[in-house]
Amino acid sequence: MGPVRRLLVALLLALAAPLPSAAAATPRIIGGEPAAPDQWGFAVALTTDYGSQFCAGSLVQPQWVLTAGHCRIYAASAMRVVVGQPDLRQPSQGSEVVRMIRHPDYRMVVPGAPRNDLMLIRLRDPVAAPLVALADERPATGQVLRVAGWGSTSYNRADDSFGPSSPVLRDTTVRVRSTDTCVADYGAGVFIPQDMVCASLPRQDACAGDSGGPLVQGRGAEVRLVGVVSWGTGCALPGYPGVYALVSSHRCWINGTTLPPRAPVQLVAAPADGTLEVEWAWTRPCDTAPEPDGYRVRVAETGQVVDVAATLRRATITGLVNGQAYTVSVTALNGNGESTPATTTGVPATAPLVVTGAAWTGLGTAELTVDVPPQVEALRLRSTATRGTRAILGPWTELAPDGAARRLRIPVDGLPAEALRLRLEVERGGLVVPTRSAALERPIRPALIGKVRITGTAAVGRRVACEIGRWTGTRPLVVARNWLRDGRAIRGATGRSLGLGAQDEGADLRCRVTVTGPGGTTRATSAPVAVAG
Ligand code: ARG
Repeated sequence: MGPVRRLLVALLLALAAPLPSAAAATPRIIGGEPAAPDQWGFAVALTTDYGSQFCAGSLVQPQWVLTAGHCRIYAASAMRVVVGQPDLRQPSQGSEVVRMIRHPDYRMVVPGAPRNDLMLIRLRDPVAAPLVALADERPATGQVLRVAGWGSTSYNRADDSFGPSSPVLRDTTVRVRSTDTCVADYGAGVFIPQDMVCASLPRQDACAGDSGGPLVQGRGAEVRLVGVVSWGTGCALPGYPGVYALVSSHRCWINGTTLPPRAPVQLVAAPADGTLEVEWAWTRPCDTAPEPDGYRVRVAETGQVVDVAATLRRATITGLVNGQAYTVSVTALNGNGESTPATTTGVPATAPLVVTGAAWTGLGTAELTVDVPPQVEALRLRSTATRGTRAILGPWTELAPDGAARRLRIPVDGLPAEALRLRLEVERGGLVVPTRSAALERPIRPALIGKVRITGTAAVGRRVACEIGRWTGTRPLVVARNWLRDGRAIRGATGRSLGLGAQDEGADLRCRVTVTGPGGTTRATSAPVAVAG
């Protein structure tokens, strides 16, 4: 029977059947019809390993299914994903699931109304079925969309019960409601955030078991996944639209999880004797995109491949020939594949400049030490600190290394008080070559051990001293004192000791200590001392 004939038969049967009373089951997804298979090739059924269907989903990549977060009901090993099979009565193995990644901000704030209700399911093997493209915008209010699933085809309002689900995929149309109308419809206690969308039409809706399934716009090559079936009160109840997770709001997380990562950035290859030290950074393209699992470094000329852990972002390539140029490329990796490569060139050299030390010298300042090989006569240098993906560059300075020590100390200013990698850039004949880098530990903020105390006899005509106590924290530490009379700083009174005069009689005297180091500034004040007459 052709689809048109079948539809006619269904219609006739429906007409022949007695009309349902108001309390009886709302007919049929709700109000839908068997879906045209060529329209829903990307729709998948989530079933238990015994073949009982409980949710739906959409194939967004050959190995990834997008579904609802609340569809995490069974362990990966106890479920199957049935792809490309609208009729679930036909026998099928279904695809095995290796991993379920629920949206990191999935939350069931109001029972039955989950937020960020999305989950990605990784299949053991890629499947050859059509993929659905993600919509990149919220659909306009009033737009008519289509939703499909194997869920209940009826809902009984009288006892809030769901009818049997459908063995064949069914679809129906729904109209996009404005969020304001939807919030007003549902009334107090239900919040519908901007990353969800409501849709309904009289007597047409998704229902229990349709969760995770696709809400789409367009047809054929134009089809776009707009939403994921999330929740609703009852099914097709007047004034209670279906609520869907909005795909366009979550593209970052979906793409970040299902596609190869973004490429590394800011690659540098610092030369040394027969080696290149390669460093790079990686920027999160958007908040919810996961980090790569690792990186792969390749040297084009030698075929060397080095795999690097995600946290390291640095590799040393050895066994290279000095004076020869090497092309080094780095890609980021995840379970979906490799990013595009980021490439740089490096020339290993004998007697390169090597940063031998890096030390904090104060708040926001550090010093790099570099040993200068004998054959180097003069240099133009600047410091570079990398903070995340940002480089903090010092000014270029001409330096003639002092002949005897062949050692230079280069000040670096304007640093944040955090762990940094520091290197120098050396200009040689118009070419800027980075040196190997040195690490600077995160400086520790000064902290007082014991107490700030006033010692001596606090009486007019006598002198008192301010003992600062013992301080920890990254050195060097700079100490400033200020004497306070009745809680107010005494102008100019910043010495280690203070002579007391008539104006101090009866006053409360305190000593305030401010200690500044590379890790920051900390203040402490002594207990008050009353000045006797
Ligand atoms: N939460 C339901 C499920 O688990 C689907 C809800 C859709 N309801 C609706 N009225 N649109 O299958």
